Amino acid sequence: MPSKKRRRKEERPKIHPKNKYSDNPPDFALLASLYPSFKPFVFYSREGRPKIDWTDFNATRELTRVLLLHDHGLDWWIPDGQLCPTVPNRSNYIHWIEDLLSSDIIPKTNSNGDNVRGFDIGTGANCIYPLLGASLLGWSFVASDLTDVALEWAERNVKNNQHVSELIEIRKVKCSQNTHTPEVLNNTESACSEEGEGLPSSSFHLPESKDKSYHGPPILVNVVRDGEKFDFCMCNPPFFESIEEAGLNPKTSCGGTHEEMVCPGGEKAFITRIIEDSAVLKQSFRWYTSMVGRKVNLKFLIAKLREVGVTIVKTTEFVQGQTCRWGLAWSFVPPTKKIISPHVTEKNIISFMLEGLQRQFGAIQVLQSVESFFHAVGASCKLNASTFTVDITASTDHCNALLRNEVKHHDEVASCSNVQEASPNLCFRVSVFQQIPGTLLIKGSLQHRDSPLSGLFSSIIQQLEDALRSKFCREKANF
Ligand SMILES: C[S@@+](CC[C@H](N)C(=O)[O-])C[C@H]1O[C@@H](n2cnc3c(N)ncnc32)[C@H](O)[C@@H]1O
Repeated sequence: MPSKKRRRKEERPKIHPKNKYSDNPPDFALLASLYPSFKPFVFYSREGRPKIDWTDFNATRELTRVLLLHDHGLDWWIPDGQLCPTVPNRSNYIHWIEDLLSSDIIPKTNSNGDNVRGFDIGTGANCIYPLLGASLLGWSFVASDLTDVALEWAERNVKNNQHVSELIEIRKVKCSQNTHTPEVLNNTESACSEEGEGLPSSSFHLPESKDKSYHGPPILVNVVRDGEKFDFCMCNPPFFESIEEAGLNPKTSCGGTHEEMVCPGGEKAFITRIIEDSAVLKQSFRWYTSMVGRKVNLKFLIAKLREVGVTIVKTTEFVQGQTCRWGLAWSFVPPTKKIISPHVTEKNIISFMLEGLQRQFGAIQVLQSVESFFHAVGASCKLNASTFTVDITASTDHCNALLRNEVKHHDEVASCSNVQEASPNLCFRVSVFQQIPGTLLIKGSLQHRDSPLSGLFSSIIQQLEDALRSKFCREKANF
């Protein structure tokens, strides 16, 4: 049986190829020589490699300042303790949206000609996404937030950059008493101050809610104005349910206040509200997107998207140093006939680890289970017990049967009738590799990447992963 010591490097998501830093990571020595204010934060390893102390907020803020200045011509600052963005990471999200907009999964319905208009939900004091989107790609933005400090500094960061200031409108989220609650929500309670407009940041603490749904200020509905149209919205949501959960990553110091990091119900509640708002605003946006911090939430949110009847769901994984983040995108615009755009073709090798295997199960049982998983829907399967592989050929109907009534992932048209229009087969191999006792690596390799069904490949492997996990693995946290 083939054996792999660890997950192959090339299978890990990579920094976006259009990202300025994909081939040229920031050169700390060069930046230190050019910017005296950055110099004190740079030190050298024994091998002579320039480094900074990632646990020092002043160092990470100064790095962001000089990178924005040097590489993007942006004059930028934030006060102590505010969330400090890392420029290469934030650029990945911008380039992913760029890919979505240029793909032909949905028709281009831009009424502004070629001018792209975005909405940044919760822009923060750093206003990073509008600044990057405007300076890199000339996009215009409405950038919302609700705390005084975020609004004041976002405004300053825009005004200090004349070349993009015309492109960015900072919009205050007003917490009025008659906050509209989308119909799809049962919840009618609003946590906004009755005093209305001004929510001093220090007093902005939302009450805990037992049902974990979002009870906060408006997000899109009642912030987007009548008749407004956008090409996309984006959001780096408050990820955590409590400041304790936000914790302190001992390896980095990117700041982040309670208001920036925490929302009752965490990102799950916050993004659920964005989804509910999108079901009200529908085609006012071509694409709705959000960053997601936990894979377990991603599954919940995709199920929610299906509930509200979106036409398309797309996901991606972002490289964020040692941590993973996901991008979730959806639309209500009817898709073009093509299931998958060639611009957004997915990987043809997808793998996952099966950890915590119960003792009585080994690779052979898993292999047999792979075979029966696909056999059950009538797909043709050839199991080879000496190479620990199963070769699968699945028709459109087989793929539909696998995906029907299940949570779908990645490039995918939600409507089954669209899927049925494509007739060719999806051919792929599933290999099982022993890693260490109790852990297997399962690898799916697509044989013909140009098959019109190839966009369903990742969803099918995700289904397989879920099935194998629930059959063979002990309960384990999914994050
Ligand atoms: C994690 S921070 C993201 C800041 C910035 N976009 C970034 O990526 O660094 C989340 C931001 O969302 C803001 N926020 C929270 N609830 C909001 C709402 N209902 N509408 C707009 N912004 C909100 C917070 O004040 C905070 O600035």
